[in-house]
Amino acid sequence: MNHIVVKNYEDMSKQAAVIIASQILRKKNAIMGFATGSTPIGTYQELIRLYKEGILDFSAITSFNLDEYYGVPVTDTNSYRYFMEENLFSHVNIRKDATFVPSGMASDAQAECDRYEEMIQQAGGVDLQLLGIGHNGHIGFNEPDSHFPARTHLVELAQSTIEANARFYKTRDEVPKKAVTMGIGTIMKAKSVLLLAGGKDKADIVEKTIKGPITPAVPASILQLHQDVTIIQVL
Ligand code: GLP
Repeated sequence: MNHIVVKNYEDMSKQAAVIIASQILRKKNAIMGFATGSTPIGTYQELIRLYKEGILDFSAITSFNLDEYYGVPVTDTNSYRYFMEENLFSHVNIRKDATFVPSGMASDAQAECDRYEEMIQQAGGVDLQLLGIGHNGHIGFNEPDSHFPARTHLVELAQSTIEANARFYKTRDEVPKKAVTMGIGTIMKAKSVLLLAGGKDKADIVEKTIKGPITPAVPASILQLHQDVTIIQVL
């Protein structure tokens, strides 16, 4: 693992954007894996800046997002599709039909998960997967569990995740309890992984991710077995 510790959020965002930009510059039609959460917002702003300066071209890339809340329509401002439109897609020249976020509204969730997994593999697999990390070590929405889920699947969100997400809602009852997420196997198949972790409150879980035992109780710990992982951490 390549572990980079930076001074502040701005430095993390700039360094992360450099890694993503260099992937797109090397491979114009890269398959990108994008993430939501507050952590990558600054990285997306940097990418938008590079696009506006004429340095980056998104027109040939394809993107697959990690996850989406289940039962939340794309028009909902809390949906991850909405987040991606707001924070990246609508500001750059990515083709809308080349941006994929799992549907949280499919009546047959399993069929949607299988379809999403298949689409990623059909596209040739993800070249660079961007990740954040939850306080309990979740990546995407792969919560601590007794096993590492292989494929895109429907999950029940952990109580701590529901509580962390409550900041985006007026009442706790409104917070989604389920999500569709790429599996750990899906994430591990990406050629490169870039994980961003900001703040003192994530220091303990980053330590466990990098140095702790590889266990599904800390889903991100599996990344120790990936041959090309960069972690950028703000302390
Ligand atoms: C959600 C997302 C994750 C993200 C995590 C951390 O659970 N599904 O992909 O990594 O939040 O979010 P934040 O970056 O806001 O701390």
